[in-house]
Amino acid sequence: MKKLFRFLTLFLPAVMLAWACEGPMGPAGADGKDGADGKDGADANETCKLCHNSTVVDAKVIEYEHSLHFAGEAFEEGTRNNCAPCHSHQGFLDVVKNNTPATITQNPADPTKYINNYVASASALALPGPISCFTCHTSLHKNYAATDFFPLATTAAVPMTMWAGAKTANFAKTSSNLCAKCHQPRPVTASSGAVIDYAKLVTEPAATYNMSSISYRTGVHYGVQAAIASGTGGIEFGTGYSNSAHVAATSCSDCHMATPSGLSGGHSFVATNNFNGCNTTGCHSSMSGTNASLTAIKTEISAKLEELAAKINAIGSGHDILQKDPIDGQYHGYFDIYDASANPTGYWKNPANGNPALPALTNAQFGAILNFQLLVRDGSSGVHNYAYTKKLLENTIAAI
Ligand code: HEC
Ligand code: HEC
Ligand code: HEC
Ligand code: HEC
Ligand code: HEC
Repeated sequence: MKKLFRFLTLFLPAVMLAWACEGPMGPAGADGKDGADGKDGADANETCKLCHNSTVVDAKVIEYEHSLHFAGEAFEEGTRNNCAPCHSHQGFLDVVKNNTPATITQNPADPTKYINNYVASASALALPGPISCFTCHTSLHKNYAATDFFPLATTAAVPMTMWAGAKTANFAKTSSNLCAKCHQPRPVTASSGAVIDYAKLVTEPAATYNMSSISYRTGVHYGVQAAIASGTGGIEFGTGYSNSAHVAATSCSDCHMATPSGLSGGHSFVATNNFNGCNTTGCHSSMSGTNASLTAIKTEISAKLEELAAKINAIGSGHDILQKDPIDGQYHGYFDIYDASANPTGYWKNPANGNPALPALTNAQFGAILNFQLLVRDGSSGVHNYAYTKKLLENTIAAI
């Protein structure tokens, strides 16, 4: 796949030449009568060059090769209708085109079952492609004009699949909604397929959690960032929530697509150690990796995350509830439950350890685990939305 992508880029000039001779402006041929033909052909050639040159397409393609959108393998999950909306080029464009609802509704054929409607059409599942220029820039090659980079595929408000559409992420800087459509948590569902009643985790905190089964992967998936960056989606114990200035004042691209520096910025989408987006008029002037306010926030949030993990793990009375990653030794929010392929050394429910049952969790404890997943997988250590992150951690730690 990647080879084909490179091949096309490499041989683009040749292809363009052939194409330009035949003339994408073909229909304009009628103009020939008034002698404008020649001009039209030349124009078409010029418009290709507006983008197909070393400073536009070529430059962005090089940046993009540093992006996990390009280099990652997760697009292969796009053969499954419930993964494709966020993992493949075709699946994403399918849910955008059909305005597929994020609802989970009763199955008309069997009222005891529920259907998650946020799936891609069958026609979008074969040979899924990785996220490409054409995934986000859907107007490319429509008019063959330099302006074809915009509008983006979608900037509409995003009904959240975790909440079966009951909550919406909507950023003031609307280009963030493009990212949020994929970078949002997924729903926790009961065996009937119905979304669990998250409200009960807060309103009936001491009741035993019984709304879904619990396995190694139970939870909200990985791409949770938009929930935290918009302050929409945590299990909100207690009160006092607010958002940091970043929520209204910044877009994902301000930080993740800033002027490149080192291995970050531009179309790499990487924000690590790139402060070009921070240090702009009206924002910061001296933000850096050693800036005291940034290091203080990161230290504080990391410490609170560790405190929450310790409280969750204490429920196991000697055995962690959460899995410690065998490679980096960190907790990523998975349960340490035996899974023959994904977690064969897991403690709970492992036949080799005498099949120990996972201790009963209260609703509040289960909600706390979801919040731990949301905040640890957010990956920004408070940068996305410090005020919300801090309050969610404090109230969650106090609730269990
Ligand atoms: C608005 C900018 C823009 C204009 C104008 C434009 N292109 Fe492209 N084109 C792109 C981008 C972006 C890509 C994807 C580059 C990549 O992925 O390597 C692309 C890819 C291509 C490809 C590779 C096959 C494909 O579709 O991925 C061909 C062939 C091509 N363009 C031909 C042309 C020709 C011929 C013209 C002029 C008639 C033209 N383009 C005008 C932006 C543009
Ligand atoms: C079509 C869905 C989709 C869209 C739209 C999208 N992303 Fe992604 N993004 C993904 C997926 C899937 C991955 C993981 C790819 C992999 O691992 O193969 C990812 C990876 C990333 C990563 C790397 C994460 C890591 O773990 O290192 C960053 C950063 C990122 N995206 C930011 C953005 C930003 C910013 C936007 C908006 C400008 C955006 N994404 C738009 C689906 C999307
Ligand atoms: C609502 C959008 C969405 C849906 C639906 C979705 N994913 Fe993802 N997934 C993402 C995003 C975004 C990332 C990248 C997150 C990051 O790197 O921070 C990701 C990352 C992944 C990864 C890479 C994790 C890692 O270790 O870095 C795998 C594997 C994955 N998803 C599998 C699946 C499977 C299987 C399904 C369907 C059962 C699925 N996803 C459905 C958005 C989604
Ligand atoms: C995940 C979504 C995504 C993908 C994939 C993507 N872009 Fe973009 N692109 C954006 C967004 C969002 C902006 C607007 C950034 C901003 O507002 O600063 C943008 C802006 C641009 C611009 C104009 C502004 C600038 O930075 O000069 C160009 C040119 C461009 N993209 C080219 C490309 C090319 C070429 C590719 C493929 C190699 C590509 N993009 C892939 C999201 C994407
Ligand atoms: C105020 C700046 C800022 C904004 C706005 C922002 N991010 Fe981030 N984001 C960061 C920083 C800083 C990190 C941590 C990067 C690091 O240290 O490697 C991060 C981490 C991430 C990661 C995890 C990357 C990884 O390596 O694991 C993803 C994915 C991501 N952000 C996506 C988004 C999306 C999607 C949005 C918009 C909804 C967004 N971000 C808005 C600054 C920002």
